[in-house]
Amino acid sequence: MYVFKAAVVGAGTMGGEIAQVIAAAGIPVVLKDVKGEFVETGLGKAEEVTRGMLGRLVSKEKITQEQADAQLGEITGRITGTTEYEGFGDVDFVIEAVPERMPIKQAVFSELDGVTPGHAILASNTSSLAVTAMADATSRPDRVVGFHFFYPASIMRLVEVVEGEDTSEETLQAATTFAQQIRKTPIRCGEGPGFVVNRILLSAISEVWRVTHEEDLDEKDVDRLIQESKMAPVGPFYLTDLLGLDTVLHVAEHLQESYGERFFVSPAMEELVDAGNLGQKTGRGFYEHG
Ligand SMILES: NC(=O)c1ccc[n+]([C@@H]2O[C@H](COP(=O)([O-])OP(=O)(O)OC[C@H]3O[C@@H](n4cnc5c(N)ncnc54)[C@H](O)[C@@H]3O)[C@@H](O)[C@H]2O)c1
Repeated sequence: MYVFKAAVVGAGTMGGEIAQVIAAAGIPVVLKDVKGEFVETGLGKAEEVTRGMLGRLVSKEKITQEQADAQLGEITGRITGTTEYEGFGDVDFVIEAVPERMPIKQAVFSELDGVTPGHAILASNTSSLAVTAMADATSRPDRVVGFHFFYPASIMRLVEVVEGEDTSEETLQAATTFAQQIRKTPIRCGEGPGFVVNRILLSAISEVWRVTHEEDLDEKDVDRLIQESKMAPVGPFYLTDLLGLDTVLHVAEHLQESYGERFFVSPAMEELVDAGNLGQKTGRGFYEHG
């Protein structure tokens, strides 16, 4: 199935960049959130990322500034923001990127089932939750699939195409082809909690969270040591701030519920989330963000 038009639901940390990736591949996309200000933030993010991408091409002399200006208009012009389901009546592929909570996701899937054409594939950007439970909220479980991008979505190539119990082979094939259409590298995986990447990544980061808590270490010192050792480009606490503390906490909780104590839920992160400090998106987490 060729995707002529797509939609993204949720214009937060991931949604704005996912819409940008789709638009940059030449496909019109609708970006929906619950409030106009959230839609504007997502559109702003898409524009910022596009400017950065084109600016790099200009500085490498691959395109002229005039061409960059024209392409900026073309790419951002393919993204339409909305707070309703306007424009969902003729989409072929929808990516849900709302908070990592099953009741919110199921409500969105049920709504999408009503507003999109019957042939449309409904995909979730979930980091760890079961696609099958989202499919249960629709009348087309065979057309529901996981489609998991990584942060930042405009740069990271990998997409996990996640097979639910009812996902058809045709849907998996269409999702794989769509990932390639938007210049990503798809891998297919089962819906075990955390799929492949987060199951591995969070098991490693869990140990850093555990030791930091048990030894009462300073998070910024731990980040600095890890960064200076060149094990990773940024430390795990700074990374968590960028990803969104609420999102990472929900994933860590889900992995601990699923796999037991080998996954650790950081009390420091719980405290920050309880206080509404969710990292870069709220301006404060383990760090202050300008
Ligand atoms: N943050 C990451 O690094 C990352 C990476 C990969 C996958 N994910 C997954 O992507 C999803 C979204 O994560 P995020 O970090 O972008 O979250 P976020 O909190 O930054 O953004 C979620 C957005 O969804 C909106 N929303 C809530 N209910 C909605 C509804 N009913 N309809 C439309 N919009 C609604 C919110 O207003 C918000 O703007 C989660 O499933 C998460 O696990 C996140």
